[in-house]
Amino acid sequence: VKDGTVVGKGHHAKAGLPHAEPMALDDAGEAAKGADLYVTLEPCCHHGRTPPCTERIIAAGIRRVYYSTSDVTGDGIGGHAVLEQAGIETEAGLLDDEAAEIYVPFNWHRRHSTPYGILKMAMTLDGKIGPAEPGQHWLTGDESREYVHRLRNECDAVMVGSVTARVDDPQLNCRLPDGRDPVRVVVASKCDVASRARAIKSDSDAPCVVATTELAPMQLRTELENAGAEVLVLPSDEGRVDLASLWKALGQRGLLSVLIEGGPTLAASALEAGIVNKLALLYAPRIIGDVAARSAFGGPTGLSAEDVEVRSIEMLGPDILVEAYPCSRD
Ligand SMILES: NC(=O)c1ccc[n+]([C@@H]2O[C@H](COP(=O)([O-])OP(=O)(O)OC[C@H]3O[C@@H](n4cnc5c(N)ncnc54)[C@H](OP(=O)(O)O)[C@@H]3O)[C@@H](O)[C@H]2O)c1
Repeated sequence: VKDGTVVGKGHHAKAGLPHAEPMALDDAGEAAKGADLYVTLEPCCHHGRTPPCTERIIAAGIRRVYYSTSDVTGDGIGGHAVLEQAGIETEAGLLDDEAAEIYVPFNWHRRHSTPYGILKMAMTLDGKIGPAEPGQHWLTGDESREYVHRLRNECDAVMVGSVTARVDDPQLNCRLPDGRDPVRVVVASKCDVASRARAIKSDSDAPCVVATTELAPMQLRTELENAGAEVLVLPSDEGRVDLASLWKALGQRGLLSVLIEGGPTLAASALEAGIVNKLALLYAPRIIGDVAARSAFGGPTGLSAEDVEVRSIEMLGPDILVEAYPCSRD
């Protein structure tokens, strides 16, 4: 920013690509000289997958740097001091609460090398995913659907169980203008998903991963690979994909956050496996009142009421969004 005008902008798209600072400095060109730099994370001063941002900032002749939050996890610590030593006025703490929220998945991944898991589930007020009759049932309204697309845009990957992939045939893309499609992950222990399913064969450039086990016949694996999916063979847990191993594998691929979109069987076992950091529960203003109708969590979750902390309740049009956090994953 120079004389109250934004002269350059940048953002860090993903690991290995340039950080926001060099992008903004490239965008500003000569105008960067004497300008102020506003950035969410403390500029890094180390040689990682990209060169240190502090070197570029100093070379560009930036006058002052304002950043929101420090890199609490290690690699970037020290950028502040390097800038000050170079005579650049540097201030931390601008909008730090808002920035800390953005960096939750990043910091989680840095500490644990696994993705931050967000489990979304839509249900009626009596906790059902729809009437007992089979088929896809839309419960929630436009505002909730837009919220889910915002989550898909923010998360690096979206994951469903094999039954949802078969029955609902979801596209699992982000349909917001300028939205980013997440990596699609289908959990199918025997590769029992048609290669023409929209979760597999998609117009999206985002990759598709089918998480499976040795139980999957070779022919089905090959069909999915020929359709463009990566078939990831993982250890099994009672005949199903071991979710902890899957989480490690997704973390190794640099995926910081995964949106778990169910259905109820996968939702319950994701909680039980301890891979859920945050629950995004959407309640539609309907009551099914049928014991035969399926509940949102279709099995043991390993959680008791005290294990979950509700931190926010919000109306999304006619629906209620409850954001809750399993305490063990804080
Ligand atoms: N309300 C909502 O927000 C929402 C969201 C999504 C879906 N749905 C609905 O949910 C229904 C489908 O749900 P569902 O419960 O029948 O199936 P699901 O959760 O979509 O898929 C479960 C299947 O995933 C596979 N899987 C592999 N490893 C697993 C593991 N570790 N844990 C759990 N599952 C594993 C298993 O099949 P394999 O034997 O093939 O491995 C398992 O049967 C559909 O009616 C859909 O419309 C609702």
